[in-house]
Amino acid sequence: MFRDKGCGEIRESEIGSVIAIAGWVFRRRDHGGLIFIDLRDRSGLCQVVFSPDVDGAAHERAHDLRAEYVISVSGEVRKRPEGTENANLPTGAVELYVTKLQVLSESAPLPYSMEEAADAGEQLRLRYRYLDLRRPEMQQNLILRHRATKQMRDYLDRNGFIEIETPMLTKSTPEGARDYLVPSRLNPGHFYALPQSPQLFKQILMVAGMEKYFQVVKCFRDEDLRADRQPEFTQVDLEMSFIDRDDIIGLMEGMIQEVFRSVLSADVQIPFRRISYQESMDRFGNDKPDMRFGLELKDMADLAGKGTFKVFLDALQSGGKIKALLGKGMAGISRKEVDNLTAEAQSFGAKGLAWIKVKNGFDSPIAKFFPEDVLKAMAERLEAEEGDMMLFVADRAKVVYDVLSRMRLELGKRLNLIRPGFEFVWITDFPLLEWDDEEGRFQAMHHPFTSPMTDDIERMMSGDLTDRNLLSSLKAKAYDIVLNGFEIGGGSIRIHSQTLQKKMFEVLNIGEEDARTKFGFLLDALQYGAPPHGGIALGLDRLIMLMTGAGSIRDVIAFPKTQKAFCMMSGAPSTVETKQLRELHIKTDVITEEKAQGAVCDGL
Ligand code: AMO
Ligand code: AMP
Repeated sequence: MFRDKGCGEIRESEIGSVIAIAGWVFRRRDHGGLIFIDLRDRSGLCQVVFSPDVDGAAHERAHDLRAEYVISVSGEVRKRPEGTENANLPTGAVELYVTKLQVLSESAPLPYSMEEAADAGEQLRLRYRYLDLRRPEMQQNLILRHRATKQMRDYLDRNGFIEIETPMLTKSTPEGARDYLVPSRLNPGHFYALPQSPQLFKQILMVAGMEKYFQVVKCFRDEDLRADRQPEFTQVDLEMSFIDRDDIIGLMEGMIQEVFRSVLSADVQIPFRRISYQESMDRFGNDKPDMRFGLELKDMADLAGKGTFKVFLDALQSGGKIKALLGKGMAGISRKEVDNLTAEAQSFGAKGLAWIKVKNGFDSPIAKFFPEDVLKAMAERLEAEEGDMMLFVADRAKVVYDVLSRMRLELGKRLNLIRPGFEFVWITDFPLLEWDDEEGRFQAMHHPFTSPMTDDIERMMSGDLTDRNLLSSLKAKAYDIVLNGFEIGGGSIRIHSQTLQKKMFEVLNIGEEDARTKFGFLLDALQYGAPPHGGIALGLDRLIMLMTGAGSIRDVIAFPKTQKAFCMMSGAPSTVETKQLRELHIKTDVITEEKAQGAVCDGL
């Protein structure tokens, strides 16, 4: 037998009994006579003592123990001497005096010290992921992830959902990212796509009468990676029949409230706030606002138009926008800091950053372009007082929104405005369509199966499809859920009528044949009695990242990939043998060893 209980589970009530524990040698301190070891397993740490007076042989062998050796020890639990207790440790009142030592496994010298593991470079941590995952913080992340997922499964089960697996080797799904492709050996020249989401399959399950489906499922997207994006990630995906938007929203709120309560003992108020896409853009500059602080964007077009500052007038003339943020208490910042702010705005895509300090009047190189009453009106709109600074960006709407939404976050951090806690918000009333400049046509903002708002269906069915204003004004029954500035989920009510679906393809300029090739099987299914249905998918990794307070989704995924979609531990992706390629009927360009080497990660 290796152990009676976990290292972290021994308490004062066990003083006097003989207990066996097993784990990894975390720290070793040699105090001449006594050797102390902090023994670690998943449950925590326990101080183990080797004393020549208690067991000379064990004490002698303890000299050879090194970091991360795996050992099993047994001995008497004793109360720690007065003054040596450790109040920070659940086992801090006791120690175990070893009378039996078994070395179960030795460890090679470590690539980095476990005590400083949190500060080891992330590339090193990913390379030796098994060492990294031994850290209590990482173990806690994965345990919390397990608990939250289990709670969600239980909740959905209780609400009549059944978990159904959908294929991983499938046809390309239209979520808008690039597919990961898998060549078919049995069908030369043909490829499966790994699912970007189970979207079409879950809709077909509704046609199939399953009524309430869910799945905790891996999804694959070949897109540019960031701290909150991985090439393979997990969705809590669901779909239900005979429902409308509020049913999905209510179901999700109940689930999230329950998960936060049971896993974090956090009380989340429901219902969550709801704001429309347009309102979100106007107030925060993006559709995933961090609601933990104000600092809202204010429109300045009307006031800016009353001055003679050319940058502003040009922006207005070309149909652009001028919006501003309040830099609370920032009137005192130096010239250099102003330059840094400008450079930051430029790195976000702005041409420049105009500013006006409220400091003994209005202090700014552009103040001369505006009458005093206009400057006052600007300050009033931004609620700027003596000592504050107003920051303006003028440009195309997209640039203004993009830059100021990012500046808002930066200023929020810099000015310490962000409240702790969890702030959820639903973003609703998304536009149905989005104009794609490059392709010169409309794209579905969510996906082509998302239903227009009931009031807009008629306008779409009977309207002039060349009328860009009409098409831009159509709204979708789509909704996103946002937590602390991260999009943690999105979904919609789907189109269940064939005629409407056909119209949608027409609007999107997807030919009948094209539609058949891409999603023929869904169109076929819709012919045979499709119930009204809709659903949502939560990004599990992002949700857990926010619940744990981790800085990146990599910290809540056991084996994540780098920014280049590379696995530092296994070395995937890798080259394969020519024989394998031949079997798959695949010829690649001659890839030199050097070029293949280039696949290796260089950044996170
Ligand atoms: P969507 O594309 O919005 O919707 O994805 C749902 C949620 O998945 C998360 N997510 C990601 N997380 C980590 N890495 C990624 N690369 C990544 N991409 C997306 C986000 C996102 O909100 N089929 C629809 C859902 C539906 O309509 O029911 C879908 O996949 O948190
Ligand atoms: P300029 O006339 O280019 O010297 O710019 C005068 C001020 O306006 C500088 O502070 C610039 O950073 C700022 N500025 C330039 N372009 C823009 C813009 N598109 N939006 C806001 N401010 C700008």
